[in-house]
Formats: sequence, C-alpha cells, structure tokens
Amino acid sequence: MPPGSAARSLSVIGLGRVGLPLALCFADRGLRVLGIDHDPAILESLRDGRMPFAEAGTQELLHRVRASGRLELSDHAADAARADDIVITIGTPSFSHVESDLRQVRAAVDDLLPLLRPGHGLILRSTIAPGTTDFVAGYLEKRRGLRAGHEVYVAHAPERIAAGRFLTEIRTLPCIVGGVGSASTEHAAALFSVFGAPIVRTTPVQAELAKIWTNILRYASFALPNLLMMDCESYDANVFEVIDLINRDYPRGGIAMPGMTAGTCLRKDFAFSEERSHAPGMLLAVSRVNEGVPLFLVEGIKRRIGQLASRKVAVLGLTFKRDTDDERDSLSPKLIRLLERELADVAVCDPLAPTPTQMLPDAVRDADVVIVATNHSTFETREARRSIVELAAADCLLVDPWNSLGTGQVFLFAAESPALAPFAASIDAS
Ligand SMILES: NC(=O)c1ccc[n+]([C@@H]2O[C@H](COP(=O)([O-])OP(=O)(O)OC[C@H]3O[C@@H](n4cnc5c(N)ncnc54)[C@H](O)[C@@H]3O)[C@@H](O)[C@H]2O)c1
Repeated sequence: MPPGSAARSLSVIGLGRVGLPLALCFADRGLRVLGIDHDPAILESLRDGRMPFAEAGTQELLHRVRASGRLELSDHAADAARADDIVITIGTPSFSHVESDLRQVRAAVDDLLPLLRPGHGLILRSTIAPGTTDFVAGYLEKRRGLRAGHEVYVAHAPERIAAGRFLTEIRTLPCIVGGVGSASTEHAAALFSVFGAPIVRTTPVQAELAKIWTNILRYASFALPNLLMMDCESYDANVFEVIDLINRDYPRGGIAMPGMTAGTCLRKDFAFSEERSHAPGMLLAVSRVNEGVPLFLVEGIKRRIGQLASRKVAVLGLTFKRDTDDERDSLSPKLIRLLERELADVAVCDPLAPTPTQMLPDAVRDADVVIVATNHSTFETREARRSIVELAAADCLLVDPWNSLGTGQVFLFAAESPALAPFAASIDAS
C-alpha cells in the first residue's frame, strides 16, 4: 500500500490551526485519519461538529468528513502508532532564552517510541530549528534501533500556508519535503501528493531553513517600514508619502506598509535561527523594532495630547492580523497594557476575537483617542468611519499605522482629516 493511498491510515498529532485543517483534508481525500489532541475542549468541539477556530471553508469540510466516518479522534499521542503514517503538528514555541523549545515534540515522540514499527512514516509538520529532523531520526535509532530511510521513514514537510487560506493553498503551494535518506523523502512525498500541489524534494535541514527563513523574510520585511515610521516621526515626515515615493513605478521591488507586526510564527521562528546565528543581534534588532511599535504609538499619542490619565482610548482590534480570530502573540494586549500603565480608560472592540469586547459604537463613544491596532476589513468601512466621527470626542486623535481609515497619517486629529470630512459634514447638516 503506497503512502497516500486511500487504504492507508494516518494520524495527526496536534489538532491546532495547522493540524486540524490538514487532518480534515487528508480524510477528505479518502484516507482514514486519527486526529489526536490532548486538549479536551478541541475534542469536545469536534465531537459536537464545531470547528474550534475560524478557517475559511473548514466548517463545511468538518461536516463532510464526519459524515464519511473517516475521522476518528483520540487524546493519546501513543494511539497514533495504530496508523501507518504519523504527522506531528504540535506547538514548537521558543523559550524566553533564544532557543527552540522542543518539549512538546519530545513528549509526543517519547509516547510513540515503544510503539513504532518498521514501515512507519513519521513526518514533522511543525516548524522546527535546523537539525531537529536529524535529531528525531537519531533519537529513534539510538532508543529503538530503527534507522530512518530503512526501517522507518522520517521527514520534515513544513507548513507554510497562511491562516484563512488553508483549503486553497494546500492544493497550490509547493510542498517542501526533506527526508532523512531518499526513501524517507519519497515516502513523505507520496503521502502529501494526495493534495495535488507540486512537491519539492530536498534535505531535512534545507526544508527546516526554508520554512524558518520564509518567516524571517516576512518579519524583517515588516520591520523596515515600522522603523521608517519611527524615523518619519523624528523628522516630522509622513511615512505613507515616503513609502509612495519609494514604491511608485520603481521596478526593483518595494517596501511594505507599517503595522503591528506579530503572530505566533513571525514572533518566534526567527529565534530558531538566532540560537546559532553568525550575526547575533541582527534579527533580535528586527524583533525589537516590531516589538517597539506599541510603545512608539503610545509615546506619539502623549506628544500630541499630553498625559493619558483618565482619557478614553478605544483600541480597535485584538487579533494578531487582519480578519482572523487568532489572538495568539498579538501586540494589541501589549498596547493595552502600556495604555493602562498611563492610567488611560481603555475600551476594546474586536468583532472577530473570541475574547469578549465592546461593539464599535460603544468603544469609540466619547473616545479621546481611537487606535486601529488590527487592520480588520470591518474597520475600513464607511460605517466604521461614520461611527468614529459621530460618536468620538470632537477633538479625537486617530492613530492608524495601517492607514485603514484612509487618513494618510499615522497620527491625525479626526477634525483635520479630509477623508473623514464628508461624515462630519453630514452630521453638521442633520
Ligand atoms: N498557525 C499557523 O499559521 C502556522 C503556520 C505555519 C507553521 N506553524 C507551525 O506549526 C506548528 C503548530 O502550530 P499551530 O498554530 O497549529 O499550534 P497550536 O498550538 O494551535 O496546535 C498544537 C496542538 O497540539 C496539541 N498538542 C501539543 N502536544 C500534544 C501531545 N503531546 N499530544 C496531543 N496533542 C498535543 C495542543 O493541544 C494544540 O491543540 C508549530 O510548530 C507552528 O510554528 C503554524
């Protein structure tokens, strides 16, 4: 039975934002899938037929897969050994030291160790530091005498799909596969070929580096406009105008827009490279710039309106990026904590976040400051702009590093914004 054939079974350990959509997609392609997670809330949600988080199209997919009977659930990592192939999609955070925290992967591999048998495929889908796939292969050989590429197949097939695009990109994004030995690569390639995306074969360490550096590239690319935004403030220049000057009709690439750059992957994955970096400090500086955006915004507000004690500040957006319900590693809570340390009265609105927040009109009513912390599309609407103009204080300061409100300035008093003038005029006329 070749890997990926419908008669073969597969387990996925870790039913988070990476593992669950992947498990559903494998089951939808006809494989028998055992989904494993030790979080009872996730299993309960799935048994009730509810996705535990939002990912476009997956609720419908979950219904279809449940009806097919091809998805089983378990809370024991060791049960994964019942299947022919095992895909690991559990968390790989970084320690507060600059070091990858492999405890979750080690725990799952230790649970599987006594149960692994010849023919098993073990695929690491989680993001891992360079050398981790070879470490896992060496660990299996040392502890069980199972040689990767001979008795068992060990490979890294990193996940690079963006949140919200899983069902599209699983079919289109080139799937990098790096096996320990060519037999491992071919085994994992056959398994992932069920999705129809191009398979790119490489070594384990190159697959690990490619994934980490995909994220480093994005994290560093966003630090540049964030640093430019801070420089522009020192020179009393407009960052959006400078970005337009850089990018307009320039044929050799361009600069991204500033924003509150964060999220689980971007914030931690650079550390997996940094732990053995040849340029210690370079990526830490990138991180410091992105991490510095909340304080930069608070300081900019204070320069314009003075002390924040007992001033109402509305923070729009809690999730780490646009139009997601994922709050993990967002910079909004850090921004809120900094505002609270200034003794401001903070109101929060995020219609997508699982954490309960206020409705937009309640959050912005009588606000002295409105900050667009996450560029959700709902904050770009005419209704959002109208609510702010109608309900916030007349001298309200708008803070919008994303330019979601279309004011064309990071800091601007609402009354001075031509983009908001039509709403103000309609209030005056009524
Ligand atoms: N979220 C993303 O968009 C994304 C994108 C690319 C790569 N990644 C990487 O993929 C991996 C998983 O990310 P995620 O966002 O899905 O994480 P997650 O925290 O949402 O999911 C991991 C799941 O694994 C479960 N788990 C952990 N240890 C377990 C064990 N021993 N037995 C059973 N279940 C266990 C947890 O309960 C959790 O539900 C990480 O390495 C991450 O860096 C994530």
